[in-house]
Amino acid sequence: MKNTAVEVFLLLAADVLNKKRIKMMKEFVQHGNTSCYEHSVAVAYYCLYLDMRFGIGCSRKELVRGALLHDYFLYDWHEKDPGHRLHGFSHPKTAYKNAKADFNITVKEGEIIRKHMFPLVPLPPVCRESILVSLVDKYCSVLETFFSAPYLNAPFAAV
Ligand SMILES: [Fe+2]
Ligand SMILES: [Fe+2]
Repeated sequence: MKNTAVEVFLLLAADVLNKKRIKMMKEFVQHGNTSCYEHSVAVAYYCLYLDMRFGIGCSRKELVRGALLHDYFLYDWHEKDPGHRLHGFSHPKTAYKNAKADFNITVKEGEIIRKHMFPLVPLPPVCRESILVSLVDKYCSVLETFFSAPYLNAPFAAV
């Protein structure tokens, strides 16, 4: 029997989700009522789901790990702080730095993190994993902004 997307997701995400510092993301709001942690899990899960459903041909482990870490900037960007003013532009770099410090990330995982804010940050994603994360990130951000509990019944809600 074929594994479901959630089962595959849990296998591929385990190393990242078991790290202590990743839980910090639960404390920070991303959009609306959604934490950075939920947002990152949602982006990673939907990317994997799309790859499995449509045979996009991604390196699935790198896709999931890069997506989970794409917003690993570890601060509340809503707090008034001069350092957060350019959050939209600077957070991919901060997330990349933190991910490099805490995880053994691959070049592709680094690409996913650094380029997910294209076109706001003018670093165009070139690999399919990076393009997919950049698109799904925007879709999830819109959902989170307009709905109060967008992932309540999602298959990854308990992750
Ligand atoms: Fe981001
Ligand atoms: Fe994001």
